[in-house]
Amino acid sequence: MAVWQKLVVYYFSGTGNSENVARWMADVAKEKGMEVSLINIGKTARRGIEPPEPDALVAFVSPIHGFNYPPVMLNFLYHFPKGRNNVLLLNTRAGMLIGKWITPGLTGIAFYFSALILKLKGYSIKSMFPVDLPSNWISVHPGLNERTVKYLHERNQEKVYRFARKVLAGGSDFRGLYEIIQDILVAPISLGYYFIGRFFFAKTYFASSDCDNCGVCYKSCPVNAIKLVDNRPFWTFNCESCMHCMSNCPKRAIETGHGYVFVVALLSSHAFSGLFYQYFKLLFFDIEDSFLGFTLESALFIGILAIFYRLLHYAMRLKIVERLIVYTSLTKYKFWGKRYKALKKF
Ligand SMILES: Cc1cc2nc3c(=O)[nH]c(=O)nc-3n(C[C@H](O)[C@H](O)[C@H](O)COP(=O)(O)O)c2cc1C
Repeated sequence: MAVWQKLVVYYFSGTGNSENVARWMADVAKEKGMEVSLINIGKTARRGIEPPEPDALVAFVSPIHGFNYPPVMLNFLYHFPKGRNNVLLLNTRAGMLIGKWITPGLTGIAFYFSALILKLKGYSIKSMFPVDLPSNWISVHPGLNERTVKYLHERNQEKVYRFARKVLAGGSDFRGLYEIIQDILVAPISLGYYFIGRFFFAKTYFASSDCDNCGVCYKSCPVNAIKLVDNRPFWTFNCESCMHCMSNCPKRAIETGHGYVFVVALLSSHAFSGLFYQYFKLLFFDIEDSFLGFTLESALFIGILAIFYRLLHYAMRLKIVERLIVYTSLTKYKFWGKRYKALKKF
């Protein structure tokens, strides 16, 4: 018997894992005769949200990006209306497989930070539940094989069904808290990703000459981060690297430019940073090897990357430049670049 009459699930999903978890929660709720609303925050207005009905159980599901919920989810929670409902926090993160052992991803500060936001708005947190589905982050690691993807889906669907039966019957599950030590250890990296890393990744995507300008990427980007510049897709700093565009491009034309980023990083760390430190010392004081120095150097690097990104966007009209960038992108190659999309049937 379900204790609640209604379940409202708000989710964000780049490649479908979190959407699957939201649907699996809905399956169990419907089985129990509950009324269910699934709200994809990538497709709805994220301001002026109506408060959930007082008797509804509310769930939030989102991937982990850089040891935190992505900014789109954090902003949504921040603008979410006040209420007194019971809330379930779920995430999907990078599961991998070693033999039959599912290696867990890392949640970082996602649960603690979002619980704090919601608690201050009056909500009562009933669960914190991580789900280790396949990692979609092919910018940093090779795409997973089919056996792993299928296995992780099957195991996690059972896990989410068990969780849903328990919480819909009035229970709670705080298994996310078992990992508090590693979550605290990676907390500084989550801040680094939020303030620097995500802007860096936003400037690593480009469309190759296989792009026929069909518009799928910029029309379906959940955060409207892709615009047309010079009649080709251009990734702005709003990009959250959710992988939606790369996974859905019908021409497989979107790549992560590893080679070009490596060259810009090398140039930046040797030529530009050296000059920057010298001038800063001349005008003010020595900041090399200090936290301030690291922060300013990182900001300088993002600025330089953005300028190179813009220049490259025009230079890629030249076939030779375009080929050079494409063939130095790991995502171009079969051994690495398998695009990830969550399975709908398995
Ligand atoms: C930019 C980016 C950052 C990520 N950071 C993490 C992370 O810090 N910890 C983790 O366990 N997984 C991380 N992942 C993996 C995703 O959280 C995981 O694949 C998730 O299930 C994707 O969900 P979705 O299909 O709903 O977008 C990251 C993925 C991306 C694209």
